[in-house]
Amino acid sequence: MPPSVPPVHDLFSHAAQPDLTYFVELKRNLHAHAHRYYVLDDPQIPDAEYDRLFQELQAIEFAHPEWLTPDSPTQRVGGRPLDAFVSVRHAVPMLSIRTETDTEASGAENFDARARRELGLDESASPIAYVAEPKFDGLAMSLRYEQGVLVKAATRGDGEMGEDVTQNIRTIGQIPLRLPAKVPSVLEVRGEVYMRRDDFEALNAKQRERGLKTFVNTRNAAAGAVRQLDPSIAAQRPLSFFAYGLGEVTAVQSGGPSFETHFEMLQTLKSWGFPVSALVQVAQGATELVAYYQSIGQQRDGLGFDIDGVVYKVNSRELQRRMGFVTREPRWAVAHKFPAQEQLTTVLGIEVQVGRTGKLTPVAKLAPVFVGGVTVTNATLHNEDEARRKDVRVGDTVIVRRAGDVIPEVVSVLLDKRVADAPQFTMPHICPVCGSAAVREEDEADYRCTGGLFCSAQRKQAILHFAQRRAVEIEGLGDKLVDQLVDAKVIHTLPDLYRLGFTALANLDRMADKSAQNIVAALEKSKQTTLPRFLFGLGIRHVGEATAKALAKHFGQLDTIMDATLEQLLEVDDVGPIVAQSLRTFFDQRHNREVVEQLRACGVTWPEGPPAPVTAKLLSGKTFVITGTLPTMGRDEAKDLIEAAGGKVAGSVSKKTTFVVAGAEAGSKLTKAQELGVAVLDEAGLMELLNDGA
Ligand code: IVH
Repeated sequence: MPPSVPPVHDLFSHAAQPDLTYFVELKRNLHAHAHRYYVLDDPQIPDAEYDRLFQELQAIEFAHPEWLTPDSPTQRVGGRPLDAFVSVRHAVPMLSIRTETDTEASGAENFDARARRELGLDESASPIAYVAEPKFDGLAMSLRYEQGVLVKAATRGDGEMGEDVTQNIRTIGQIPLRLPAKVPSVLEVRGEVYMRRDDFEALNAKQRERGLKTFVNTRNAAAGAVRQLDPSIAAQRPLSFFAYGLGEVTAVQSGGPSFETHFEMLQTLKSWGFPVSALVQVAQGATELVAYYQSIGQQRDGLGFDIDGVVYKVNSRELQRRMGFVTREPRWAVAHKFPAQEQLTTVLGIEVQVGRTGKLTPVAKLAPVFVGGVTVTNATLHNEDEARRKDVRVGDTVIVRRAGDVIPEVVSVLLDKRVADAPQFTMPHICPVCGSAAVREEDEADYRCTGGLFCSAQRKQAILHFAQRRAVEIEGLGDKLVDQLVDAKVIHTLPDLYRLGFTALANLDRMADKSAQNIVAALEKSKQTTLPRFLFGLGIRHVGEATAKALAKHFGQLDTIMDATLEQLLEVDDVGPIVAQSLRTFFDQRHNREVVEQLRACGVTWPEGPPAPVTAKLLSGKTFVITGTLPTMGRDEAKDLIEAAGGKVAGSVSKKTTFVVAGAEAGSKLTKAQELGVAVLDEAGLMELLNDGA
């Protein structure tokens, strides 16, 4: 269980006349909330509440500059741009690690055999206990805490001297600025600063949108952010951290934390607020190391971050001391690499593909190459600017990269291998599929085919989008079949799908009766869907899964969404002007409404929720606390209803609570409400409020 944080409401009564005790308490609370948010991923208070506390702290520090300390949560960003980084000497050198390049599992056996030999263990001795960890693909960092306060963050550099990047490291929410009492007076924590794949993708998308250079991989993006001289830019590059070791540590007094084994040490660091990967495990002997290597290898693509191998470490710190070092590398640890995620190949051609929204994407066709665990034959060049920047030409030798389930990319071209006279790639100004004009709007990175559903490429993509697993899910309707159906002019629009009979399908080339039957059954099954899936499946520009869910939750019914005004759409969380306009444009087109009507007429159906309140945000500004068991609805359901109407749901009762919704067996929260004179509702009262307004 994560530590619980005292309710914030109790703090506010002191706000008018801040005293030092209150100030210290407020800071402690903000640290605790930040830890829950960034490290445990389990916030206890809403973001807005956190922001309010944060601003309160800023105000107090402004009034009492003498109270301001570098460990304050307000000090994560704020430094000035530097001219250069200052060099710092590491108190304890940052070692490198021996690498086992044999990407077979036997690499683990080699290490175990060596360790046993060095420790003089014979066949009969029991297996050595190791800790197996992912080898994070970022950059090594040393964090120095004195009296529990982060005073210095330094890169590895040459192992002896690194660079002082404290300003930038402070901006990483996962890194504690201060530690709980009783940590050693000097404590250096070592670990890896890295960028999550989703953060990396978002960062590159933003860079691309702004016409700026994209980053080659998560490691380069992380290194670039850490070495940013302007901390305000570094703060916009989302970084993460995993702890995996120690540097200098002052002697631990008896009764203090146990660092006898590497694993215990990591657990202690975790209890002090450092992120430690959940993939770290104790492994007994070579057999379990091999199993770990294989298991992490299988999970690699699905992880949220890049790793380039695993690291094995002897668990006992006593044995580590006995084994010692060779030059700069410990004998008790080894890195065991996975197959590379970057490879060389040649460009056979550059094709332009047309997407669902008419977007033209240049794609490099590659000589097949095995990279990141799959054979890659295509790599996206994204758009005209990106293609020009990378200047990929037919015949070029290029580095391709594929990490995780991310789409393969051309990283760079080996210019010295370019064939003479290879022509530069230019974007076509007509759609390569339907011949309609392709235009690039001002401020847009992409060319779009103007053919709309006249363009068979767009039609095909629209159908595939609707049929995909995350939309209505029509199993077995893949791109080959859609190509066939559209090319043979059997289907033109989405509803045509549901008019396909067994005969039409079975008459297609290479279609067995059994397969045709399966498709008919899959179509039938897909008719029972949900509103978010259906809405997402329509393929409205800018309406992804999350937005579709938010819209469905807010409005409850499709008709309400189709008729909502821009203003009403903007009231939905996550819906901004671009999304709202896109929805309006879509539903203002008669043919799109017809598609919806025809799909319904074909039997596509979903449960509709309660209608949205006429004036949305009926309950905005009102805070609810739900307690006890409600007679018909679950608490989550009640919470959803309240939030959909603009209200907030809090965990504890205070003077700021507007209503307490109480069911059977309501306990202390009800008593507290009565003490404070907060209005109490039952379920029926809540429903009345939701229906009539307050
Ligand atoms: S331990 C004495 N553990 O790999 C051993 N290193 O060391 C010191 N790395 O650039 C390193 N994940 O940043 C260790 N779980 C892990 C690691 C790890 C990544 C990096 C480290 C260094 C390189 C070689």
